[in-house]
Amino acid sequence: MSSVVECNSLEQTEKLAEKFADAVKNTGAFVCLYGDVGAGKTAFTRFVCKYLGIKEKVTSPSFVILNEYKSGILPVYHFDLYRLEKEGVSTISNELEEYSEGKILTFVEWAEFSDITLPFDKIEININYIDENKRQFNLSASGKKSESILKRL
Ligand SMILES: Nc1ncnc2c1ncn2[C@@H]1O[C@H](COP(=O)(O)OP(=O)(O)OP(=O)(O)O)[C@@H](O)[C@H]1O
Ligand SMILES: [Mg+2]
Repeated sequence: MSSVVECNSLEQTEKLAEKFADAVKNTGAFVCLYGDVGAGKTAFTRFVCKYLGIKEKVTSPSFVILNEYKSGILPVYHFDLYRLEKEGVSTISNELEEYSEGKILTFVEWAEFSDITLPFDKIEININYIDENKRQFNLSASGKKSESILKRL
């Protein structure tokens, strides 16, 4: 199951994130974010966190691989695998599955840098840069939980 959403401004991305936050707040989700540098992976994550009531500053966790935000209505785990060292790849690939379970929300930027296709219930969001303010969000869901979230957007 998949859908495409055009966001013609940062405000429209915020609107999509607000709906997304509403759709995941009761169940949690595992979300892989794809797209070039500057596509908007962190921006989208930051807006979702805002609507979940998270008070911590949401930034690209590039130097620590994982940030955790616990001040909102559900815990958010924010991975960025961009600077993952080769040796870390197999460890992280095994660990990620644990973050797909339970009522938590997990975002993974640069999930393509883990070496396995993640075989569990997940949402994949591919953000295409159209121009300075426009982005195309391609969303797809695999698994029942993720499909029902996508239907609510
Ligand atoms: N419609 C839009 N949606 C999302 N971001 C937008 C939009 N229009 C402009 N932007 C800007 O694009 C930039 C996106 O940067 P962001 O850090 O989110 O990218 P990223 O995909 O996380 O990159 P990286 O791979 O470096 O982590 C931000 O400065 C944001 O304000
Ligand atoms: Mg980022």
